[in-house]
Amino acid sequence: MPTATAIAHPNIALCKYWGKRDRALNLPSVGSLSLTLAPFSTTTTVEWGAARDEMVINGREASAEEARKVFAVLDLVDSWRPKVRVLTGNDFPTAAGLASSSSGFAALVLAACAAAGHPRTPEQLSVLARRGSGSAARSIFGGWAEWKVGERADGMDSHAFEIANEAHWDVRMVVAIFDAGPKAISSRDGMAVTQETSPYYPAWVASAPRDLAAGRAAVRNRDLDALGQVMERSALRMHACMMAADPPVFYWKSGSVWAQDAVRSLRERGIPCAWTMDAGPNVKVLVPTEHAELVARRLGAVADRVHVLEPGGPARLVG
Ligand code: PMV
Repeated sequence: MPTATAIAHPNIALCKYWGKRDRALNLPSVGSLSLTLAPFSTTTTVEWGAARDEMVINGREASAEEARKVFAVLDLVDSWRPKVRVLTGNDFPTAAGLASSSSGFAALVLAACAAAGHPRTPEQLSVLARRGSGSAARSIFGGWAEWKVGERADGMDSHAFEIANEAHWDVRMVVAIFDAGPKAISSRDGMAVTQETSPYYPAWVASAPRDLAAGRAAVRNRDLDALGQVMERSALRMHACMMAADPPVFYWKSGSVWAQDAVRSLRERGIPCAWTMDAGPNVKVLVPTEHAELVARRLGAVADRVHVLEPGGPARLVG
């Protein structure tokens, strides 16, 4: 049986994606910008031709919902595909606001296209990965990636591209875990209720392009002060928008607020650093490598666990 194995790293958005202009195609309402992070990774093996469609995640049979999403993406790789076996594993907590879906769908589409004998460009892989999970569009690329809103109704121009590779800037992302359990509400459902009910949603969509342009320039100039302001503003606006939904979409825990405070006080002491948060209570802090250990120690005083991650490379085939 043709088989291929791919590895991809998760990414964390610095300018956030929240809301869709097309739900079926997973097209975003706003462009976003991210950093791909190593050493956390997903490794996925696809066997193109099996007795039945089967998917195993971290050694257990996937739930019907998980399998449905994955096999729907494989149908896009080849609508006449054979039955397929997928074996996937993360070396970090799944569904904890650490974007396991980003590395998961990036590794899946890369392995599946190779196993199927349908090689695709990184942009085409990014479009396919997007259909599984929006943020996965960015994990096809290493380093600093931007995902374009695109203009086409079929979404073929809504893919990510690399702004700068993983060697561009000597920084670390310190991830403070306040809850490694599954999310209270999925990003898909959270986005839908925000879009339908938050009075702030139009303002969020209107304000995002300016932040994205400023974020892109700050990355290119390696300007952590400028990027930090954009990161925190984007995260705060995204969370304010979802908190104003009905019912509210609320991911913060007391530890999250404590960590934001700790980052501000480190900055007052002259340590350049900035935080961001996603669909979970964990706080991620961008910092020059030379100060990463200090930030990790400070956050470790309250967080359950702390990881120090570095810019990672693109999704790649390993077998
Ligand atoms: O694409 P999803 O369903 O993993 O949603 C990602 C949502 C955020 O992580 C909160 C923001 C982002 O741009 O990654």
